Amino acid sequence: MVVHASAYADELVQTAKTISSPGRGIIAMDESNATIGKRLASIGLENTEANRQAYRTVLVRTPGLGQYISGAILFEETLYQSTVDGEKIVDVLVDQGIVPGIKVDKGLVPLAGSNNESWCQGLDGLASREAAYYQAGARFAKWRTVVSIPTGPSELAVKEAAWGLARYAAISQENGLVPIVEPEILLDGDHGIKRTFEVAQKVWAETFYYLAQNNVLFEGILLKPSMVTPGADCKEKATPEQIAHYTLKLLHRRVPPAVPGILFLSGGQSEVEATLNLNAMNQSPNPWHVSFSYARALQNSCLKTWAGRPENVKAAQNALLLRAKANSLAQLGKYSS
Ligand code: 13P
Repeated sequence: MVVHASAYADELVQTAKTISSPGRGIIAMDESNATIGKRLASIGLENTEANRQAYRTVLVRTPGLGQYISGAILFEETLYQSTVDGEKIVDVLVDQGIVPGIKVDKGLVPLAGSNNESWCQGLDGLASREAAYYQAGARFAKWRTVVSIPTGPSELAVKEAAWGLARYAAISQENGLVPIVEPEILLDGDHGIKRTFEVAQKVWAETFYYLAQNNVLFEGILLKPSMVTPGADCKEKATPEQIAHYTLKLLHRRVPPAVPGILFLSGGQSEVEATLNLNAMNQSPNPWHVSFSYARALQNSCLKTWAGRPENVKAAQNALLLRAKANSLAQLGKYSS
């Protein structure tokens, strides 16, 4: 039995372990209505509830998905939605052995007193929303905040990001949801990989300091970091081996082995880059499960292939399965292109 104030302590540990099972990772399909609108516009579709439902049905109805995917992060609308053929999306996921999760933050707004930086809203009313999400079948949560390197980042922005994540994590655990802790360090900028490494060290030091202060059970959380890469406009590109070197060095210095899983975001990397980088990180054993929680790097080809046409559903699902399988192999360190 785990000793922790949350009545859900044992369940949290079990959920985090299930999500961190070998050869599996998370599909992030929790685009807000604004973001999914951009994705649908890219294939010429209107941002209607019916189109969002049709697309999300394509994803969750992919046969065999549960072999490679252990968790799916949903937007609130999808948690309560059915597939086009009338089955609850949550039930379709559970039937495949996929744990349903929920995005609980309320998005970014300007942070007064900073260098034009942002902070993440959503703590007000979080406990009661999460209790309802648990009732609806969610077993983990996600809160994404961001830190931007070209702006400094300011001490204030880093502290606010870390504190918000820690409060969210404590509230989630009290309501039975495993919190995914996601301080995304944005790729924007022309800085080199060493600068990203420095900033990431600061962000994670502060995040773990506040997680501990808030009595968060480390065995019952999951992390969703950005990989340590050069800025998107940096002239010097990095190889997967260099990215793995810096990212693992960061994790070894900052993340206690009590944390069961580290599931990266793809942050604008191409599908293949995201797979190669993950594979490079799994070439030798790690103290934690090192895996993926990709949105774009799992969905891009699938969305393009589907293009809103029923006759393309099968091909789109094959495209998703191809990426899921590639990333599953990368989780095991066995991917070759
Ligand atoms: P990307 O993998 O597209 O960066 O999205 C992951 C995510 O959920 C960001 O919060």
